[in-house]
Amino acid sequence: MKRDKISLVVVIMGAFAMVGAITLATYSPGVSLAQDNAAVASAIFKDHECWGCHTVQSAKIELDVGDLEPDEVDEDAPDLSDAGLKHDQEWIMQYLKKKVKLNDEKHEKKFRGTDEEFETLTAWLSALKTEAK
Ligand code: HEC
Repeated sequence: MKRDKISLVVVIMGAFAMVGAITLATYSPGVSLAQDNAAVASAIFKDHECWGCHTVQSAKIELDVGDLEPDEVDEDAPDLSDAGLKHDQEWIMQYLKKKVKLNDEKHEKKFRGTDEEFETLTAWLSALKTEAK
């Protein structure tokens, strides 16, 4: 019986410690959370081969054509460091789903990830506000 009580206490203490750690990680260093989001978003950006056409110099993302065929790559694609100065998240979402046009044309690539990935990716893009040099 006594053993059971002790292990119950240990489990409860462990649960409190975990909740505490999560709360701390979530709320205290707001900056590092933003950095985590940026890390996740840039991984999504790479996974979906956006970097086959676009650089994001402010996030140190260079071109990587990976397995893309040469005719799947467009060298005129702009650097996206200033995407958030030109467009808001809503517009970027529409554009990447080919629902709105830019310069009379739809985007070449339709985003085909999950809704959650799409939200993270477009939030990040619309927060990129480094003036182009
Ligand atoms: C096949 C090449 C190609 C791929 C892959 C590609 N894009 Fe593009 N994208 C373009 C081109 C070209 C333009 C510019 C079109 C124009 O200016 O008329 C563009 C424009 C954009 C713009 C608007 C930029 C601006 O300055 O207004 C955003 C945002 C964007 N792309 C995001 C993405 C994301 C996110 C991905 C990955 C899901 C992606 N693109 C994949 C070719 C590509």
